[in-house]
Amino acid sequence: MPTLQRDGLTLSYLDEGQGPPVLLLHGFPMGAESFRPQLAALSGSFRFIVPNHRGFGGSEVGPGPLEMSTIAADALAILDALALGPVIVGGLSMGGYAAMALVRLDPARVRGLVLIDTQVTADDAAAKARREEVARQAESGGVAPIADAMVPRLLAPGAPEAVRQALREHILRVATPAGIAAASRGMALRGPSKEILSRYSGPALVVVGEEDGITPPEKAKQMAELIAGAQLVSIPGAGHLPNWEKPERFNEVMRSFVLREL
Ligand code: MLT
Repeated sequence: MPTLQRDGLTLSYLDEGQGPPVLLLHGFPMGAESFRPQLAALSGSFRFIVPNHRGFGGSEVGPGPLEMSTIAADALAILDALALGPVIVGGLSMGGYAAMALVRLDPARVRGLVLIDTQVTADDAAAKARREEVARQAESGGVAPIADAMVPRLLAPGAPEAVRQALREHILRVATPAGIAAASRGMALRGPSKEILSRYSGPALVVVGEEDGITPPEKAKQMAELIAGAQLVSIPGAGHLPNWEKPERFNEVMRSFVLREL
């Protein structure tokens, strides 16, 4: 896996496929490999750049909270290292917060925006307190209790056992206690992104799993309404991870968006 040195840390990423470049930013507490269903099906059409955020999937963790702007800046540094100009930027959940931070940092780099099961609002006090609890639980009990608590929340209630198992194994493979703690505290620090989306004038696709209980369809509608001309797609039978739960439908939606906008 290719790596980049930044702030004294080794950061890893996937660079697979051929065609127009698509940057994908993964959710919490997952890694770049959570986009494997997209890489497997679409790497004949697109070049995917998929960073592992600090503390996940082999990327080293830094000190303190992992701010969404740091995830965005790491991704921009990877694009710089690869000499890539404007790219399609997609982000799922925490990756969506980072995608919006990237739009703020360097809008000229964004050729199209794909927001997947994410939200534009900041955490309220109760959500911030839950983040701190998750961080402490990971620091004291490791990854397994976090994976056990999160898998049922991440997937649609009717998700098959094999999908649950595969997700649990993925989290256990890629997440670290320090990474979970840093990302959880970093998400609590993010501000609202409404202004970023209102100012954004490029093409946008907003995707949501119809049964997402973490960032439900109303959140997707709110984002789509902020961006002029955004396309909103709801995926039946999926929860918070439509790319993982309903990959064929998700891939079709993403493929047609990218091809239309290039
Ligand atoms: C994610 O999937 O990245 C997280 O659930 C996002 C969040 O907790 O806000």
